[in-house]
Amino acid sequence: MAAVPNFFFAIIVSFLCFSPSHAAELKNHIPTVILGLSHAKAILPTPKSTSYSKTKPSEMQDMMEPLREIRDGYLISLNIGTPTQVIQVYMDTGSDLTWVPCGNLSFTCIECDDYKNSNTMAASFSPSSSSSSLRDSCSSPSCIDIHSSDNYYDPCIIAGCSLSTLLKSTCSRPCPSFAYTYGEGIVTGILTQDTLRVHGSSSNPSGGTNVFREIPRFRFGCVGTTYREPLGIAGFGKGHLSLPSQLGFLQKGFSHCFLPFKFANNPNISSPLVLGDQAISSKDQMQFTPMLKCPMFPNFYYIGLEAITLTNINTSSPEVPVSLREFDSNGNGGMLIDSGTTYTHLPEPLYTNLLNALESMITYPRAKEVETRSGFDLCYRIPCLNNNALEDNDGLPSITFHFLNNLSLPLPQGNSFYPMNAPANASVVKCLLFQSMDDYEGGPAGVFGSFQQQNMEVVYDLEKERIGFQPTDCTLAAASHGLAKV
Ligand SMILES: *[C@@H]1O[C@H](CO)[C@@H](O)[C@H](O)[C@H]1NC(C)=O
Ligand SMILES: *[C@@H]1O[C@H](CO)[C@@H](O)[C@H](O)[C@H]1NC(C)=O
Ligand SMILES: *[C@@H]1O[C@H](CO)[C@@H](O)[C@H](O)[C@H]1NC(C)=O
Ligand SMILES: *[C@@H]1O[C@H](CO)[C@@H](O)[C@H](O)[C@H]1NC(C)=O
Ligand SMILES: *[C@@H]1O[C@H](CO)[C@@H](O)[C@H](O)[C@H]1NC(C)=O
Repeated sequence: MAAVPNFFFAIIVSFLCFSPSHAAELKNHIPTVILGLSHAKAILPTPKSTSYSKTKPSEMQDMMEPLREIRDGYLISLNIGTPTQVIQVYMDTGSDLTWVPCGNLSFTCIECDDYKNSNTMAASFSPSSSSSSLRDSCSSPSCIDIHSSDNYYDPCIIAGCSLSTLLKSTCSRPCPSFAYTYGEGIVTGILTQDTLRVHGSSSNPSGGTNVFREIPRFRFGCVGTTYREPLGIAGFGKGHLSLPSQLGFLQKGFSHCFLPFKFANNPNISSPLVLGDQAISSKDQMQFTPMLKCPMFPNFYYIGLEAITLTNINTSSPEVPVSLREFDSNGNGGMLIDSGTTYTHLPEPLYTNLLNALESMITYPRAKEVETRSGFDLCYRIPCLNNNALEDNDGLPSITFHFLNNLSLPLPQGNSFYPMNAPANASVVKCLLFQSMDDYEGGPAGVFGSFQQQNMEVVYDLEKERIGFQPTDCTLAAASHGLAKV
């Protein structure tokens, strides 16, 4: 896992014109489940903010998609094209663009050996096999948006349109290919539109779950070559090209309940991902923290961390800097909540102070050799009775995050210390799965990653601009949405 936060920076705008008849088609709730995200994004230069007139799609019904968990993140299945091709991509709240590996045999990922070895390379989308696939034109708002950060030229000039067609805005040449940069990765491709099919969310969870709704002219990147990005990505940011934005959920919201890590690569159960009213309604019991407006990266989700406390009240809590809840004059700061970053990243010296506080409380022997091998900084060898103490109370301290608005979130067991191997010799090694924001060069001061969001319902209430957390058994939540095979 890269130490950089998963942070994606291109801003893409898409305009959606849902006609009333299309809106009527989108009547069903789509259950969404996503599991396993593993890629790293980088922090990029400030994008220009673009303002396009926003066409608000009329009433959308909720949708619900299952998310499959893999080693480092959560995957959503995209059903694209005619006939439908199914492509699994990361669900990523830290970026906007949705892209899929594209081409018959030609998708190339440079420096992806780790992924090739672990067999996570995904299927490619073949636009030539889809009768509804179209290339976006150079004058479309989405084309202008995806090119807004790389230069100030009209994409139609790059596309070679004649002056007379430019003046009349009638040039219909294809949108030139784009490059989109993540923390460590880059993807290049062409902007494509095609039909996307999503699952309607039935209000009756046990019946009628497989109703598909068609979203015509969904805009996504058809990507031929990447650097360190082995799988496609579905962007869940607030930009106009993001998936919630294109589907009309930007004024509402979405929620997910990530299954615990032990279900990674298990095909029999998926995490629920819900978009629409159902995701944000009836949450009166839930604690919410405000979404902070990040001047530098307005399309992503920021929250404010006020304090971290540990179970042992005799240990003084590490002091949390104001940068985790405020932005400086350059727009740096805040805590990014990002499903595309695996582990939570904390700034120095908070990270080191937290390790020291934990170390002073824990009496188990350190497992230094595992620390060296894994790259995690705090590992302990914990005796287990019955060789089966993976889930049981292990006597390790629990960690509580306190977010703005007096929201206390005790991290569920398994979200901080996690077993690195099966029990052997009646002991198991558990490591703290947090990382330091080393090499900080601006951007968010910290990142709340997907690993620390397991077994909790996370609600992105975009209407009220707040994020809610509720510790939840996501295995039960999956079953109640019909996402667990019995
Ligand atoms: C993909 O394969 C189909 C069928 O083999 C072929 O007709 C088409 O030209 C190919 N497209 C590309 C982009 O290679
Ligand atoms: C999934 O279910 C099948 C059929 O019940 C079973 O054989 C398989 O072991 C299960 N896989 C996992 C990872 O639990
Ligand atoms: C905290 O310190 C007090 C006084 O030293 C001691 O009596 C108490 O047991 C300690 N509590 C914990 C949880 O360690
Ligand atoms: C904050 O929440 C705690 C319980 O979680 C409660 O006891 C306390 O009164 C709250 N403080 C404020 C200022 O609302
Ligand atoms: C278990 O203990 C035995 C004897 O102390 C030792 O030889 C062996 O290497 C240990 N196994 C592991 C996996 O630590």
